[in-house]
Amino acid sequence: MTSAGYDALRSSAAPQLRVGVIGAGYWGPNLVRNFRGSADWDLVAVCDLDEARARKVVGPRSTVEVETSLTALLDRDDIDAVAIATPARTHAPIALAALESGKHVLVEKPLADTPEAAASMVRAAADADRVLMIDHTYCYTPAVQFIRRAVADGVLGDLLYVDSVRINLGLVQPDVDVFWDLAPHDLSILDFILPGGLRPETVSATGSDPLGAGKACVGYLSMPLTSGGIAHVNVNWLSPTKIRQMVLGGSRRTLVWDDLNPQQRVAIFDRGVDLATQAENAQHREAATVSYRLGDITVPALPEKEALSAMVTEFAQAIRERRAPMTDGAAGLRVLAVLDAVSNSLVQGGSPAAPIDALESAIDEVAGSVSTLAGARADSIGGG
Ligand SMILES: NC(=O)c1ccc[n+]([C@@H]2O[C@H](COP(=O)([O-])OP(=O)(O)OC[C@H]3O[C@@H](n4cnc5c(N)ncnc54)[C@H](O)[C@@H]3O)[C@@H](O)[C@H]2O)c1
Repeated sequence: MTSAGYDALRSSAAPQLRVGVIGAGYWGPNLVRNFRGSADWDLVAVCDLDEARARKVVGPRSTVEVETSLTALLDRDDIDAVAIATPARTHAPIALAALESGKHVLVEKPLADTPEAAASMVRAAADADRVLMIDHTYCYTPAVQFIRRAVADGVLGDLLYVDSVRINLGLVQPDVDVFWDLAPHDLSILDFILPGGLRPETVSATGSDPLGAGKACVGYLSMPLTSGGIAHVNVNWLSPTKIRQMVLGGSRRTLVWDDLNPQQRVAIFDRGVDLATQAENAQHREAATVSYRLGDITVPALPEKEALSAMVTEFAQAIRERRAPMTDGAAGLRVLAVLDAVSNSLVQGGSPAAPIDALESAIDEVAGSVSTLAGARADSIGGG
């Protein structure tokens, strides 16, 4: 039997965990569908302030119950966990109430609307000894899983640069700028694939508002990497062409991920530039020796699997194994700290802002109460 077969057997043999989904707007139905389709989970209830919305998601002739009161949902003792898909500003109060009622919590991105609120959630989860997981959806795609392993295994060598482009004609959001709308995806991916997570010393961001929308609709952010390289993210609501591409240039190889190309989502180029000798100054430029490597391009075969399905499986396994999930509250906190620094840098006209300060103080705040769940980040999905 294949290892996937054993995993399926193990998952289906364990008693199901019982979950309630809170929020049945745009994204909630995707969670509902994946919890319903998972052998690990029994979807017990869907909760929304708008009853008709919740009823529509549950559908006719279903045993899944509809709740319109959060308190009533959290008072139920036939629910082990909740998944929160409500607007960002409501995440912290709902998650804190759920943790207090003893539930494990999955929160949609972003973890909260401020690093301080996110820190209070991480601390509350540690105090309650419950799993707090963030749905950084892209981290559960086969492509990002592959990239994480390639970086960890040294396939690319030292990271020299990361260039991420996420542009399309997007809805100008009423409450957030383009950075807060789109960059959480790039930042959560970087947090997932960079060894040690996303902890830049500074972030520089510039934005533009050519429509006069009162917020940045086009944005560029850059930050130094601990490897000595640089990461750059371009987000844009005004581009007629849709691009979802990340280039990771390494000292050994370069990886290109094009999420819109199902034939070749990931390609690894054994090509690059080596600097054999460096000139001491401009007058001695001839002393620099550059050699170009023109090796093969490798395209790995990746399975086509829905990320949210792997995500709900990881949530169940983290609860069963009493460990931190691959995308835990601390990951959500790191991403928020960088977003917060982006906003500070924008206000200062692009001057570098330091997320690490905000992050360190938030981490200090939770450090004393972090339980065994917090440090035990798993190395692979599904324990395999
Ligand atoms: N992972 C992803 O790729 C992804 C994609 C889209 C949205 N999201 C996230 O999902 C979350 C929800 O976004 P959306 O676009 O679905 O929002 P939405 O406005 O379409 O839906 C939110 C729903 O929550 C309900 N709600 C609000 N407060 C509530 C409360 N206290 N109790 C119960 N129900 C309540 C509302 O009635 C509404 O039906 C956001 O955090 C968003 O960032 C994630």
